Amino acid sequence: MMKKICVTGGAGFIGANLVRLLRQEGYAVRVLDNFATGQRSYLDGLDIELMEGDMMDEAVVAAAVAGMDGVVHLAAQTSVPDSVEDPFYDCRLNVLGTLNLLEACRRANIARFVFASSNAPLGRQRPPAHEEQAPLPISPYGASKLAGEGYCLAYHGTWGLGTIVLRFANLYGPFSGHTKGVVAQFLKNIAAGRPLEIHGDGQQTRDFIYVVDLCRAILLALESDLCGELFQIATGTETSILELTEQIAEVTQQAVERTYGERRLGDIGQNYSAVSKAEKLLHWQPSTTLADGLAQTWAWFSS
Ligand SMILES: NC(=O)c1ccc[n+]([C@@H]2O[C@H](COP(=O)([O-])OP(=O)(O)OC[C@H]3O[C@@H](n4cnc5c(N)ncnc54)[C@H](O)[C@@H]3O)[C@@H](O)[C@H]2O)c1
Repeated sequence: MMKKICVTGGAGFIGANLVRLLRQEGYAVRVLDNFATGQRSYLDGLDIELMEGDMMDEAVVAAAVAGMDGVVHLAAQTSVPDSVEDPFYDCRLNVLGTLNLLEACRRANIARFVFASSNAPLGRQRPPAHEEQAPLPISPYGASKLAGEGYCLAYHGTWGLGTIVLRFANLYGPFSGHTKGVVAQFLKNIAAGRPLEIHGDGQQTRDFIYVVDLCRAILLALESDLCGELFQIATGTETSILELTEQIAEVTQQAVERTYGERRLGDIGQNYSAVSKAEKLLHWQPSTTLADGLAQTWAWFSS
């Protein structure tokens, strides 16, 4: 069993949830984060080692992985619109930052390296997203995540580094207050008594997965021997943005007002994933319904 895990981006949304689950399961945790988007307060009171520094700094990254058994690489530029705004920053952090970390892990003989990817590399492929589709990205973010996946697989192919790529669907859950995710935006607006702003007609669909279910998949990947493999991690179900607003109205017991704006550049129309590979090989299944997950997320936002 892995004992010591370094989580890059551990002060972010997924990181804050993952670090808690790792500690619950008895792992020692070191977080590397520069607080570009993550929040110091998310790690308050946790028994972990916190290293403040930048993914781009070779010496910092080498120190962050020294003595670790496994690394979960979450730190990234995570927004599609921001990648359209500044594709070079997106590339430096998501491609060169990932390469920097892989090289440090190779030198330090790290046993497992789990990479946080998304469906963005698949871009204009028709859903359901699955592992056999050729990537056809339509956004700079999709291209930078695809390059990150490529380097992970290359470090396994060339040097035998124990990399596993997970493509996350749309996450929601506690500790997402700073994110631009649609569930977080909607719940913040409801808490502030503002209308929910829908980009386009609201018919676009997403596969919403509760963050704790995803974190369980990351733990299984850390403990598995399925190196050099790529997995879709999702629920396998499609929910339109309009349906999401209805579920949110039910869970929050609030009257929901909707406004409609322009569809965003690089936005994918329909998006959900097939998860049979993760079910079969990782023995993982999501267990939280959208209604339960939204209720837990709302409890966090309203506390
Ligand atoms: N949230 C989602 O729906 C989703 C979906 C698919 C994939 N992902 C991927 O999961 C990962 C985590 O996403 P998240 O939603 O938790 O995002 P987040 O922005 O909350 O977390 C990213 C963390 O990385 C840190 N960071 C950024 N730049 C850094 C740098 N140069 N050096 C060190 N730390 C740095 C930030 O401070 C933050 O704590 C990302 O790789 C993202 O692309 C997220």
